[in-house]
Amino acid sequence: MLTPTLVYLLSALCVRYALADVQPFTSYANDFVDPDYIVAGNFPDTTGEAKASIISWADRFASTGPWTVTSKPFAAPSGDKKDYMSWAPYFWPDCSKVGNTTALTTEEVWTKCPYVNRDGQFNPDRLTINDIGAFFNVSDAILYNALAFSFEDKPSSKYSQNIVKIVNAWFLDSETGMNPNLNFAQMHRGPGGQVGTHTGILDLKGFVKVVSGILILRKRKCTDWTATIDAQLVDWTKKYIEWLETNQLGIDECASGNNHGSFCFNQWIALKLLVNDIPGAVSVGNKFFDGIYQGQINSTGDQPLEASRTHPYHYRNYNLAAMITNARLLKYADPTSNPWNKTTKADATLKDAMDMTMTVNPDASGEGYAVAEIFPNIAAVAATYGDPEGKYVAFLKKTFPEYASDASFLWDQPLAGGSAVRTGSNGTNSKNATGNGVSGALLDRRVGATQAVGFLAALLFAVYLH
Ligand SMILES: *[C@@H]1O[C@H](CO)[C@@H](O)[C@H](O)[C@H]1NC(C)=O
Ligand SMILES: *[C@@H]1O[C@H](CO)[C@@H](O)[C@H](O)[C@H]1NC(C)=O
Ligand SMILES: *[C@@H]1O[C@H](CO)[C@@H](O)[C@H](O)[C@H]1NC(C)=O
Ligand SMILES: *[C@@H]1O[C@H](CO)[C@@H](O)[C@H](O)[C@H]1NC(C)=O
Ligand SMILES: *[C@@H]1O[C@H](CO)[C@@H](O)[C@H](O)[C@H]1NC(C)=O
Ligand SMILES: *[C@@H]1O[C@H](CO)[C@@H](O)[C@H](O)[C@H]1NC(C)=O
Repeated sequence: MLTPTLVYLLSALCVRYALADVQPFTSYANDFVDPDYIVAGNFPDTTGEAKASIISWADRFASTGPWTVTSKPFAAPSGDKKDYMSWAPYFWPDCSKVGNTTALTTEEVWTKCPYVNRDGQFNPDRLTINDIGAFFNVSDAILYNALAFSFEDKPSSKYSQNIVKIVNAWFLDSETGMNPNLNFAQMHRGPGGQVGTHTGILDLKGFVKVVSGILILRKRKCTDWTATIDAQLVDWTKKYIEWLETNQLGIDECASGNNHGSFCFNQWIALKLLVNDIPGAVSVGNKFFDGIYQGQINSTGDQPLEASRTHPYHYRNYNLAAMITNARLLKYADPTSNPWNKTTKADATLKDAMDMTMTVNPDASGEGYAVAEIFPNIAAVAATYGDPEGKYVAFLKKTFPEYASDASFLWDQPLAGGSAVRTGSNGTNSKNATGNGVSGALLDRRVGATQAVGFLAALLFAVYLH
């Protein structure tokens, strides 16, 4: 459960962020951006502000990366810092039966004291080891840098060079590269603990964003993305796929019926695309839509497995983002497929789930702070199914008036809104620059408002790990 203190803290942080005039940033729960659409570059003129946001986010990330699993202060129980590690966030030590606890070192607490689950209460020490936050940044940085690269009409740029640095540091470098396993993700501590749990697979859901970015580099024949680095990443990914498909943790996670399973499939399909196994991607995509998807949306468009959770508004949108991402991945892998019209066993589609979720009042479950989570889902659904009655755009205009300056407005098209603006820097596709100029101040104001919404969403996504 999210305590009132935490809610207060989140709101305070958001306000501070909005006022501090930092770069705007939205970390979507997940998304797959079709590289063919990006490479074609025929973006509507109205996407100028979205492009400007993307470029500023790409720059901001590039200035703080790259990230490594080896920068954490403690090694995984294997003794190897190259093993990814995170701690189950709701588990707390109970040292009452361990004797003189003041004499225990921090590391002795982890191994000697039994850990108990206090559902919804975050153990603050979970961020002592922040491989998860680092990977969120890796995945967002790769996506935004690839998009920024695609706006320039050249085979090499600082953005593509950034991606090479990030990929090398996180995955490939012999000193810092992550081992291709999640043996210690959302690990349980205590005697008999020190083992990862299947829920930890969720930590790497952002792999979809990594794959979107790399596919853009490949398709644009980026000269920084050499055959050598491509082969090395493919080799790494094949090993990780083998782990995911054969380790019990991976098997259990993709078999989960709820959002955990949906996000596990996000990764799994995307990984197949990365290793150029298109039939594999299609087969895994169909496995999702013929499998757990069947039980995820009922005849009223609700998602019973999410509606029963402590934060039903959040979880409905969280799983919608994962289902939408699976649909985008499958449609890309097999353009003849029809995941958007695929019905569950209760005869409902993704659109039914969206339409139902739009009727839910987040305040009814005390989740007014989570309202922003719905917005990328609505944009995706409106762009895909069309919006003949204008109800999706009406909702966006009312609830998120600045939606056209969010990054997703670039690829959630066609979607009404935005205006033909030139951003002044390279925010406009050089091959298709039209429209009137807009002052920098106006742009900053627009972006600033989105940032408050976006940053709130980003925080919430980062906070809800289960
Ligand atoms: C520019 O974008 C518009 C709107 O997407 C499109 O109709 C037009 O063909 C594009 N022009 C060029 C030169 O790509
Ligand atoms: C617990 O250990 C500390 C540090 O070794 C020591 O100063 C303290 O007296 C011990 N307390 C008890 C109750 O044994
Ligand atoms: C992720 O990037 C943001 C923005 O640059 C930075 O503030 C944050 O500290 C980074 N997180 C980690 C774990 O590196
Ligand atoms: C659909 O699921 C919701 C949430 O669990 C539930 O309230 C509703 O009754 C279900 N509808 C049907 C027709 O089963
Ligand atoms: C759903 O199926 C119909 C009929 O085949 C098709 O016209 C429509 O484009 C499909 N919708 C989506 C979003 O794919
Ligand atoms: C945008 O990028 C293109 C291609 O790199 C470059 O030729 C152009 O000068 C840039 N425009 C601005 C305004 O920076």
